[in-house]
Amino acid sequence: MRQLFFFSNNINKIIEIKKIFNKFNLELLSLNELNIKEEPEENGQTFEENAKIKSDYGFNKTGIPCFADDSGICIESLNWKPGVFSKRFLNNFKNKKLCFKNILTSTKNSGKQNAYFKTSISLTINKNQNIVFNGKIYGKISEQIRGNFGFGYDPIFIPQNNSKTLAELSTKEKNKISHRSIAVNKLINFLSN
Ligand code: IMP
Repeated sequence: MRQLFFFSNNINKIIEIKKIFNKFNLELLSLNELNIKEEPEENGQTFEENAKIKSDYGFNKTGIPCFADDSGICIESLNWKPGVFSKRFLNNFKNKKLCFKNILTSTKNSGKQNAYFKTSISLTINKNQNIVFNGKIYGKISEQIRGNFGFGYDPIFIPQNNSKTLAELSTKEKNKISHRSIAVNKLINFLSN
């Protein structure tokens, strides 16, 4: 059976991706199983760069083809930030609600409502050989914080052609349209060809 290394510690992502890869007769290994404790610094300026830093690192450590993802939200009223700093931006506030209120206020004051989520997946198959798969979901910042599903910025993001925030959609509904599933599907298509 072919092996593939997913450079991630996020247990939810690992479970989700393992389910998908079961069908492909591929053994999916994660950081834990390969007993890798160190992680590289994610100091890239773009999602693509950060994903590549991780997938190159994983491949160089193990010699096993390795993929990694990086994602975040880009908000028009914040000059399309926080982007690669999405996690850090949220953590800079005392709690999520304060962060969301800050975003809602800048959106209201500027009248700029647009936003998108982006995921980049980098697959390193050899030294100096990597392929990137991108997924995006466009939408707008909501006027109120709504919904309890999902994680991160889901309660303030309304996908295009929708009235609900991502946090008001079930996981199944979110997975049909999300930036992450678009990028994962591109990776799967590549691997199955
Ligand atoms: P990661 O690179 O997938 O770990 O994502 C970095 C950060 O971006 C997360 O900590 C979240 O704050 C945000 N983010 C990424 N994807 C999503 C999503 O699907 N919904 C909400 N927030 C997300």
